[in-house]
Amino acid sequence: MRKIDGMISEARKAAVAIRNFQGIVRIVSHYDADGIAAASIIALALVREGKQFRLSIIKQLSEGRIKELSNEGNRLTIFTDLGSGHLKSIQEHLIFPGAKVLVLDHHQVKGEILAENSENIIHVNPMLFGINENLSGAGVTYFLAKELDPENIELGYLGVVGAVGDSQMGSIEERWGLSGPNKEILKDAKKSQKLSVSNGLRIWGKYSRPLHKALEYSTDPCIPGISGSESASVQFLNELGIPLKSGSEWRTLSDLSEDEKRVLASGIIKERIRGDRKNAHEIFGDVYEIPDHPPEFRSAEEFATVLNACGKLGKPYVGLSMCMRNPQSFDDARNLLSDYRKDIGKAISWMNRNKDAIKKTERCTYMLAGDRVSEHIISNIASIFNKSGLVPEDRPVFAFADAEEGKVKVSARAHDILVENGMNMERLVSIAASRFGGEGGGHRGAAGATIPKEAQDMFISYIEEMLGRTNDGLFQLDKTVPLTIQSNLNINTPEEQTLVDFQKEVRTAERSCEATSTEVLTSIANGDENGTAETERGQSSAGSEREERGSTSSQRGKESEKMEGKGLVRYFGPKDVQ
Ligand code: C5P
Ligand code: ZN
Repeated sequence: MRKIDGMISEARKAAVAIRNFQGIVRIVSHYDADGIAAASIIALALVREGKQFRLSIIKQLSEGRIKELSNEGNRLTIFTDLGSGHLKSIQEHLIFPGAKVLVLDHHQVKGEILAENSENIIHVNPMLFGINENLSGAGVTYFLAKELDPENIELGYLGVVGAVGDSQMGSIEERWGLSGPNKEILKDAKKSQKLSVSNGLRIWGKYSRPLHKALEYSTDPCIPGISGSESASVQFLNELGIPLKSGSEWRTLSDLSEDEKRVLASGIIKERIRGDRKNAHEIFGDVYEIPDHPPEFRSAEEFATVLNACGKLGKPYVGLSMCMRNPQSFDDARNLLSDYRKDIGKAISWMNRNKDAIKKTERCTYMLAGDRVSEHIISNIASIFNKSGLVPEDRPVFAFADAEEGKVKVSARAHDILVENGMNMERLVSIAASRFGGEGGGHRGAAGATIPKEAQDMFISYIEEMLGRTNDGLFQLDKTVPLTIQSNLNINTPEEQTLVDFQKEVRTAERSCEATSTEVLTSIANGDENGTAETERGQSSAGSEREERGSTSSQRGKESEKMEGKGLVRYFGPKDVQ
């Protein structure tokens, strides 16, 4: 039996529990792209089953939150993209005779289900079935939806969006794309014609950015001499004979003819060879597109970013509504995305200007943003800097931002090469957080926590202490670690030890685009914050489109509660998602 079949048979049990249930289903999901995609999948699958539900999208699960849920007396609760880290509290507070809880998650599992609760809880998490490849919360939820009704393969594309949103695209045997169980979801998504898969240039902003800006902002793949410089990008395109504009409109990558795309690709490869990039040809990869979406929401990667923006800016219902194909919600999302980019741009530029806020030790990089970066985007900052080449890659990054109620949000990231050698951020962060009265969780390469503000310094000291330990029984030094990173790598459990994949190491180093990263970050920050003269002009046409559509979106209020037939066009409003 394939490992995935074990997980699918558990998902089948969850499907039976849903089918047999009469009443209002309670859904709780995470507020990032994966969580919103997962919530949309389960919501749409429940609609198809004729079930009613109540949905919450939350920043994080905590014991307090679970206690609040227990007051509702729900007889069927479904957690998506969270829950696996809270099995103890779930069992303590949500189980009563006749109550069922379904946990559809992919985060690290903490605790176990007691025998006496085995009838009440169904836990679907790939890790329980020995699946170590990537699968997202939306992916797990998709496998359940498919068990409920084969027609739900039309939701497969949302499983792909969740995976892409969770950064599961990667380089696999010379191919750039999704792998493992995600490939099965891809197959379904393609079959249902809700997703198109092609091979193309891996340049961000195919539909949404003027081509010269897309090249300027491209860090992965990096184009030496061009990434980070608008004028170099314009000159490069001129030299290739690719016009920047069509009439008064800036052209995007999607506007290029096949011939122009070929010229551009070989131009980029030449620049990468000239800039001594290894794997200079690695600029192509799978391109996943949602054909039914408006152009700038068509790329699965960009759509995932938009969902993230909705969640992080406190409007997850806009993201859900887009997944429900509500046309007006795309207008709302356009505005949100622009706010989100500005916030991230400001945060990058603050971090760049305030080098004192970045503390580097031998073992880690700590980014101390205080109240200057929102707790909702500190995770983006941690991810961006971790991949920027601006901070050492041979040690993890921890970013801290003040949160509500005297707390601090911590986001921790480690490069693939560290994870492959046993680094486990989830363990590190959870152990340190719980020691100081906080809560944490996540994955080996990306974890987060919320801790009391007064514990921030002690948290850092404890992380240093844990990473400094070698053989105290809790963590062991991985003997396979290459010398260059050995001094910083002290955390792993024996079963997590893997062989070093030097090829991957080379690719990781190559991807980081060290030389130009400062300029690219600065340029992204400035471009998004202030807009250069060129981009402002570039965006003005989008602006008028927004105004035109504004009149339609003002009618939304009346229609918000309406279900429009088979298309399931429903607009979620703030009251729907609490
Ligand atoms: O918030 P951030 O993006 O840094 O989180 C990284 C990962 O850790 C995410 O998958 C998130 O769901 C998880 N996390 C968690 N518990 C927390 C904070 C984050 O499981 N308290
Ligand atoms: Zn997730």
